[in-house]
Formats: sequence, structure tokens, C-alpha cells
Amino acid sequence: MKTPQFIQLHHEDSGQIRTELLQGLQATQAYTSPKYLYDALGSKLFEAITELPEYYPTRTEATIFAEHAKLMAGHIPQGATLVDLGAGNCQKAARLFGALGPSRYVAVDISVDFLKDAMTRLQYQHPDLDMIGVGMDFAESLALPKEALEGMTPRVFFYPGSSIGNFTPDEALAFLQRIRAVCSEQGGLLIGVDLVKGKAELEVAYDDALGVTAAFNRNMLVHINRLIGGDFHIKDWLHVALYNEQLARIEMHLQAKRDVALRWSVYGEATTQRSFAKGERIHTENSYKWTVDGFGDLLQNAGFAKPIVWTDVEQKFAVMWAAI
Ligand code: AVI
Repeated sequence: MKTPQFIQLHHEDSGQIRTELLQGLQATQAYTSPKYLYDALGSKLFEAITELPEYYPTRTEATIFAEHAKLMAGHIPQGATLVDLGAGNCQKAARLFGALGPSRYVAVDISVDFLKDAMTRLQYQHPDLDMIGVGMDFAESLALPKEALEGMTPRVFFYPGSSIGNFTPDEALAFLQRIRAVCSEQGGLLIGVDLVKGKAELEVAYDDALGVTAAFNRNMLVHINRLIGGDFHIKDWLHVALYNEQLARIEMHLQAKRDVALRWSVYGEATTQRSFAKGERIHTENSYKWTVDGFGDLLQNAGFAKPIVWTDVEQKFAVMWAAI
């Protein structure tokens, strides 16, 4: 039996994190990167979100894969190196192994620690498959280690879950161009995209009755407190999710319930750094929704061929295969 190989490339830079966070918190319209939603608890809360009746994307995408995997396999090269971006527990890719028959599985996430258990378990089920876990910030760079890319097999990138929606359209284009640049001949990208739909359905998907998404959003403040020595109090902040129809995006915000004087530590001393008036917001996440044609154009602008598209019957979500 083979054993998975693990390569950690990303190393956290606490100075850079602090600078980035403070820049956003001090901006006139305060904002944070959505990556700060994912500390250990935030990742668990996100998993819980995917189980909620209101949050349709994960379930719908899984149905599309289950129903169309065989058809997909007719377009996607067999025996490829399958590069799974944001692999986490590796389950989504593993469900496609039967149909796609990859010769190598490269799971990419910010830290190999997130991948170790899942890949070790997966190796028992696929003892002959080459497996490499890579810890890197793929949103910044796709400079994969040579171990992941060597050989002549086509490279198939896999980016499910509609995480592409958390990029602005310009960022999404740049990201797709970077993938295109490292795709080999016969390679391509298999991607999940959440589609534009009615405001009410979208807003409830991001503001569920149980309050799990609210907890996910508000937990970011606890995470930020740890990172900058801040004194955010969760009870002062309200979860707001609204669909911006003009920009076709769900926006998540945290809204101050009262006037807040925020302190964070400077050279070990906590001093007041920013005041928020009651009603003022911190913009924490965008989740862009695309039309099938709009995302097809984006892929082609990034250098891919016109994609092959599979959707659910209600056209809530799309999975696209874009060859090069
Ligand atoms: C990870 N990402 C695709 C999710 C989304 O739908 O934008 C994150 C999320 N935010 C709130 N609920 C889920």
C-alpha cells in the first residue's frame, strides 16, 4: 500500500495578518477578509451550515455530482492528476474517484493538518493511488510543488462548493487565469457555481432560523480578538445578510447594536482604536451568484473553452467542466 506524502508550503505571518486586519477595521467602511470566519470553531460551524435546510448549495451540488458523474466522466480525462482546491475532508473528490479514475490525487488546503486524517483514511480505500497533501494559500498562488505535477498525466483541477463566489468578479477572473496557466494539455477545471435566484431564498440561506450562520459570522469577532488582542463583545453585534441585486451578491455584515469603542493591544497595552456608532457595520463576506452564461463568459475570458454545464432541475446550482 502507498502512503500519502505531505508538503507544507504556507507559513502564517502574524505581523501580516495583524496589518491586514487593522487596515480593514480602520477603513471608513470597515471590512474583513472572509478567511477569518474559519478558525477551528468557524470551520465546524460552516460544516453545520451545510446541513441546514435553508442552505441549499452543498446538497444541490452533491445531487448534481451523483446524477451526472458518469456523463462528466465522458468529458474529463481518465487517469489524470486530480488537484482538489480547498480539499478539507476530501469527501467531495473521493466520491468522484470511481468515475474519474485519477492516477494521482493532490489535495490542497491552507494546512496539511486539515488533510492528514482524511487522506490517511482515504489511502486505505485506494491503496494504489498516489496521494499528496499540500498546505498552501492557493487563493494567492498556485505554485504547486514539483512532486504534485511531475509526469505526463493531464491536470484536472477541482474547485467545488461555489467558493469561487467569495471572490469579486475581478479576483475570480485572476484566480481562473492562474488555474488555466498551470493546466496541462487535455486538462481543465471542474467547478461548482451557485446561480442567481430570488432574494428571499438567498437571504434565508444566509440567515437561517436556527442562527447557525449568525453564529458563524459573529464567531469571527472571537477569532479577531485572539489575533489582534481585541475586545469585541459578541453580544454587541448583530448578524446581517442581504442580497445586493445590482451586484448579484449576498453580503454578510456585523452591525453594532449600540455605540462601541473597540480596543486592541498595541505593544501589549489595550487602547481604544476605533469607534463604531450604533447601526454601523463591518462587511465580513461577499458571496457572488452567477448566471450560467455569465460564468461561462468568465471561464472563456480566463482562457478556457466554453464549459459543459450540468444543473439541478430547479437551476439553483451548476457544475461546469471547462477544458483548455
Ligand atoms: C464557503 N462559501 C462558498 C460559503 C458561501 O456560501 O459563500 C460560505 C458561507 N457563508 C455563509 N454561509 C456559507
